[in-house]
Amino acid sequence: MAQLTILEFPDPRLRTRAVPVQVFDAALERLIADMLETMYAAPGIGLAATQVNVHQRLIVVDVSEGRNEPQVYINPVILARDGTELSEEGCLSVPQVFEPVERAERVTVRAQDAHGEFFERELSGLLAVCVQHEMDHLEGKLFVDYLSSLKREHIRRRLEKERRERAGAPRSRAGRDARVASGGKVI
Ligand code: NI
Repeated sequence: MAQLTILEFPDPRLRTRAVPVQVFDAALERLIADMLETMYAAPGIGLAATQVNVHQRLIVVDVSEGRNEPQVYINPVILARDGTELSEEGCLSVPQVFEPVERAERVTVRAQDAHGEFFERELSGLLAVCVQHEMDHLEGKLFVDYLSSLKREHIRRRLEKERRERAGAPRSRAGRDARVASGGKVI
């Protein structure tokens, strides 16, 4: 297994629309394993293939306390949505930014597993938020797109400034860990 590099906003590759997964083979299983390792190490509760520059319709999530209940959704489609929920979101591709986003409270998702088998699942709470956030990534959409353009531009400038400041220095994970510990959802 290997940790993959996570693209960060405003990298234009994050705007790529992913294509359906058509081949369910050992290479796909390796990609899933690498994405899970990357997500757990980050640490985050979800990761879309788009974020590691693989433009196929594949997401991994784990919202469990024990971080031991990975879920994989390949070619996911939302069949039904119900209710609305406003919750604070973060994103591994938009480090250190947490903003409220409105999502459906419950969704019914159809997807395929690593072997290509179809399944349907009703999701609610954090898992529903997380899967909707990850599915946006597959469309080239980021959670900051739900904010005002003024706010998004402010975030972009702040991230670019931080990136310049830490250029050449090893990347600190401490800030992210603290956010996760305080309940921020890094998706
Ligand atoms: Ni994200």
